[in-house]
Amino acid sequence: MTFELTEEQVAVRDAAREFAKKQLLHDVIDRDSEGRFPVEQVKQMGELGFMGMMVRPEFDGGGMDTISYVLAIEEISKIDASAGVIMSVNNSLVCWGLEKYGSESQKQRYLTKLATGKLLGAFCLSEPEAGSDATSQKTTATEDGDYYLINGTKNWITNGGSADIYLVIAQTDPTKGHKGISAFILEKGMEGLVIGKKEDKLGIRSSDTHSLMFTDVKVSKENRIGESGFGFKFAMETLNGGRIGIAAQALGIASGAYERSLAYSKERKAFGKPIFEHQAIQFKLADMATAIECARLLVMKAAWLKDQGRDYTEASAMAKLYASQVAMDVTVEAVQVHGGYGYVKEYHVERMMRDAKITQIYEGTSEIQKIIISRTLFSKLN
Ligand code: CAA
Repeated sequence: MTFELTEEQVAVRDAAREFAKKQLLHDVIDRDSEGRFPVEQVKQMGELGFMGMMVRPEFDGGGMDTISYVLAIEEISKIDASAGVIMSVNNSLVCWGLEKYGSESQKQRYLTKLATGKLLGAFCLSEPEAGSDATSQKTTATEDGDYYLINGTKNWITNGGSADIYLVIAQTDPTKGHKGISAFILEKGMEGLVIGKKEDKLGIRSSDTHSLMFTDVKVSKENRIGESGFGFKFAMETLNGGRIGIAAQALGIASGAYERSLAYSKERKAFGKPIFEHQAIQFKLADMATAIECARLLVMKAAWLKDQGRDYTEASAMAKLYASQVAMDVTVEAVQVHGGYGYVKEYHVERMMRDAKITQIYEGTSEIQKIIISRTLFSKLN
């Protein structure tokens, strides 16, 4: 067992850190206030190779391991959790699924452009009445010659308004339950695909969350991913990896808030000395640092298992469950360490506290992670 990063992993982490400080920090507060998508920065992330990090070079990706990916998401989310999720969805939920299960022509047509950031992707599973209960899909894909006609509504779609490519999960045979669900590639601009309202969110406000409406959207059978009926399994497997990305985002939010708190505690004086010298603050910082270290170990273990080609379903659920709780706890404490300054936008930690909450909700709530973990625990008994 080694806890050392390779030279390449350190270089990726440092490049992401530098990018975040130089390109994301300067307008992160304004973008959050205005709910403005980081158009320019996402373009730069594509140019720097952050949008298709794990995709093999033959499809124009970075060919990197999951540990490098986690390091990059953490660094970017330390400064801007919205940029973190935009990147995570494109890498984990869109590029990964296409590379693993897409046909050769789908990869040539879509993956190469998604991996280089020329196109942006979105993953469309959730519906108004199917969030945690993902098998209760109401969106339908009905066969019509060489095509499918897609009808229905998807909700809370990250990158929903900015994406060029949508991976859409829909029912192809309602009589077969989860085995009657399939996955499709849709393109922005297809007739009948309407981008619905933009959500006015508590946090990650600079990311772009929309509902999407489909009315007889005509999609070629060539755009189905895998066999008919494979869509639920496709979504579940994709989310297993997606949860590593969100766990890394949560880790970044927590470590960003901790680093700001540590720096502030050295600057801010109260009762004649820096607040760092008060035990009340020292204990808070010690608890924050310990929790972050535990979360980091879980996130790295999940990434390592994935890189080893081993099962990471339980590990990714544990990493997401724990890191998202740590993000919430640490950011609340970060606001407390900053006192009144923590409650205003200028000091960043109030945004981080708002951003942290979503990591306990999307890509499966904390309760869903516990279901996944407990199922694997019980399966080991048999
Ligand atoms: N990995 C691989 N396969 C899985 C799986 C997993 N984690 N979970 C379930 N499956 C498979 C099962 O093995 C089973 O397959 P077989 O029939 O071949 O045996 C099939 O899927 C059905 O499984 P279940 O009977 O266990 O299904 P269920 O209805 O009880 O649901 C669930 C299981 C874990 C609760 C699942 O519905 C789930 O994960 N829900 C959460 C969905 C979610 O994360 N949504 C997030 C939306 S995407 C998002 O947020 C993206 C964004 O924009 C940021």
